[in-house]
Order: sequence, then C-alpha cells, then structure tokens
Amino acid sequence: MDCIEVIGGRPLHGEVTVQGSKNGALPILAGAVLHEGTTILHNCPQILDVMYMIQILQELGCQVWWQGNSLYIDASRLSTSHVSAELGEKMRSSIILMGSLLGRAGEVWIPYPGGCVIGARPIDIHMDALQKMQVYIEDSEGMLHARTDGLRGTSVTFKSPSVGATENILLAAVLADGVTEVYEYAKEPEIIELCNFLNSKGAKISIMDNCLRIVGVSKLNDSEYYLMPDRIVAGTYLMAAVATRGCISLNNAPVLQMTEVLNTLEHMGAWLEYEEGVLKIDARKAELPVEKIKTAPYPGFPTDLQSPLMAALCLAKGKSCIIESVFEARFKVTGQLNRMGARIDIDGQEAVIHGMPGLKGTQVIAPELRGGAAMVIAGLAAEGRTLVQNSYFIDRGYEDISRDFRKLGALIQRKSIL
Ligand code: EPZ
Repeated sequence: MDCIEVIGGRPLHGEVTVQGSKNGALPILAGAVLHEGTTILHNCPQILDVMYMIQILQELGCQVWWQGNSLYIDASRLSTSHVSAELGEKMRSSIILMGSLLGRAGEVWIPYPGGCVIGARPIDIHMDALQKMQVYIEDSEGMLHARTDGLRGTSVTFKSPSVGATENILLAAVLADGVTEVYEYAKEPEIIELCNFLNSKGAKISIMDNCLRIVGVSKLNDSEYYLMPDRIVAGTYLMAAVATRGCISLNNAPVLQMTEVLNTLEHMGAWLEYEEGVLKIDARKAELPVEKIKTAPYPGFPTDLQSPLMAALCLAKGKSCIIESVFEARFKVTGQLNRMGARIDIDGQEAVIHGMPGLKGTQVIAPELRGGAAMVIAGLAAEGRTLVQNSYFIDRGYEDISRDFRKLGALIQRKSIL
C-alpha cells in the first residue's frame, strides 16, 4: 500500500513552483472532445485525476499523448459516447463529459457519479439545466443515458452556484443552436479558465457579473492553451509553511485568485510579499488563531483548503472555529488529527480547534484528497515520524507532494508497505 513517511518538526524553507490547476485541467480535457481536431494543453498537471480523464478520452476514441507537461488530444474521431462504469466511477467529475458528448455526438451513456466521502454530491442542477436544453435523460441499466435531437439555447438560473453544473452547461451550450444564458453561475477561477479556453477554440462566450452568455457556433478550431497554476496546491503549501513556522517562496502562485486565503494567513500573523511572480511567506510568527471562518463559493474561503487550514490551526496559540458551508461531510480528517494530539470538537458544520503546543507523529490514514494533504501538513509540523496511508488520494490532485516538500527542506518520502 502506498504511503508517505514524514519526519516532522523542521520549519520549511526554500522555493517551489506551483503545478497546473487540477480543477482547471479536467473541464478543459472534457472540452477537447467537442472539437473534431487537436487541442494542446500546456502546463497540464500529471496527477491521477488527469490520468483517469485521459483513459476515458482514449476509451471514447481520442488519441492522447504527452510531450513534457504539454498534453496533446486528437479528438478527430470518436468511436463511442459510452463512458464505462469502470472508468467513470473512478472520478465523479467525469459527469462534465455529458455536456461535451451531447454537444459532439448528441448522446451519452455515463455512470451516476455518486457521492463520495465529503458529501452526497447530487447532480440535480446539472440535470435540470440540460433538460431545459432539450436533453432527454433516463436510467439505462444503472447508467445515465442522455440524448438530444439538437441542443437548444435556453436561459437557466441555478438554485445555488455549482462549479460542475456551470461547466456542464457551458460545454453543452458552445455548439447548441441559439443563445444560452446562465444566471447564478459559479464564479470560481476554473470557470473563467474554461470560458477562456473555449473562446480560444472559437466559442462565443461572454462573461458578465450576473450571467454567462453563450452564442452557439457550428464548429471549433484546433488550439493550444497554457493552463493556469493551481490555487489550492499553492494554498496547501502556504498552510504547511504556517504549520512549521517556516519561510518559503512559491513561483507563479495565482495570488489574484487567493485573496481570502492570503488575508487569512496575514490574520494568523504571517508576513507575505509578492514580487515579480514570486510569493514569499514568512510564517515564523504565524501563531494566531482564527476566531471564525466560513468556507464559501468563490471568492470566499475555498472549501478545498478547509482541511489544510484546520491542520495549521491545530498549532495556533488559542481557539479557532471553522464552518464548512459547501459540503456536508468535509470534517473526516479531524479524527486523524486528534490521533496526533490535536484537540478538535465537531458540532454539525462547525469545527472548534483548540490550538496545542505540538503534535505527535503516528500512523494516520488519508480520508480523501484534501484531508490527505492536511495529514501531510500535520506530519511536517509534528514531532517524530508520521506515516500517512492511502496516499494515492493525495496523488489525485498533487503531482508529487513529497517531491515539492523535499524541495522545501522536509524529510519526507513515498513508501510502499505491504
Ligand atoms: C468542484 O466540485 C471541485 N471539483 C471541488 O474540488 C470543489 O470542492 C467544488 O467544486 C466546490 O468549489 C472539480 O472541479 C473537479 P459543486 P463540484 O457542484 O463541481 C451541491 C477538490 O478537492 N450541488 O460546486 O462537484 C453540492 O452537493 C474537489 O479538488 C447540488 O446540490 O462542486 C455541493 O454541496 C473536491 N446539486 C455544492 O453544490 C448539483 O447538481 C457545491 O458543489 C451540484 C452540486
């Protein structure tokens, strides 16, 4: 079994370059299927979720290959619009292939994405919006089968901002007949990235404060695109600097997408400087608690950094409170942190973290992707050795977390234990 061994208690120092954005790459790879030609995505992160998406694209008939960290997708010929259960269930975000396969082929079979450890993650907002675009959706032997006689532009107002649903509708609307307007759309940077990518392929998308407006076009064109850095990976590394009271520099951190995160770090006593594309943090005095912070859709504090922040707050001098407002079950990591000597009380969607003078290394289990990253952060700060099991969860979103933290002076390595 894959795990990560950390010998903690060493303040991080040094510099590291932030990888390309996982949640930017996945919808762009789905978007490549819309075009009967070639798409090149530069700065694509070599992470498990991208590998899973590549396998699905290849199953659909695409030719996909790497040149360094540029990914080439030739979607000239599709052989099917069936996404197999075996591959589709590996990654729930494969659901956004519905929009692009409906746009390309007018039909799609895809497994129900199902819930995951952080919540039920329903897809009602996706389904309602696609049905308004003249898509007929039924259950077909346990799979979702959707088809259309022609996608029609429509006006949709989401009941709440959903990143995946916004991406699905964008992908379905690009080649639809007519104009689609999406109100209450998700404002995450990854949505803007997808719009910019699709427009670079010849789509006609206007981004307004209250509405995304997509004028359907008949076809797209070959293109190449340079993917933005990953704001969640950047934030994870900053939380590790705080937890270890270190000083690090991040090359190409997307600081303009991280305002709420950087404000929180400064509130904790960190000193931050951004100059010529390099973000520096001095966290030697970052020991203050956060009285109350609530995760929220962008531009609020991102739910994906809730667990890494929790790990850092375990070592603050005082009591902090985190309210998780996006997913209903995203506190799974607290049990693992408490095994390391943290003192965290959970009451519904509220976590109260009583800062402790230190944590003790031990064997822990990564409950999911961001919880796993939080356990590595705790291990970096803890006294002694920490073994984080199920580290494949972490590989879903981080290219090589051990490599990056070693660059920052950590004693950390990947291990396989039977
Ligand atoms: C995306 O998930 C990200 N994943 C998540 O990152 C991220 O946490 C989330 O957006 C919120 O920012 C990818 O981009 C691949 P949502 P998504 O639809 O699209 C409810 C990570 O760690 N909802 O915005 O699934 C849903 O239950 C991952 O990188 C409905 O009720 O998130 C949740 O409570 C984890 N009905 C809320 O909306 C729907 O039809 C936000 O979900 C869809 C969603």
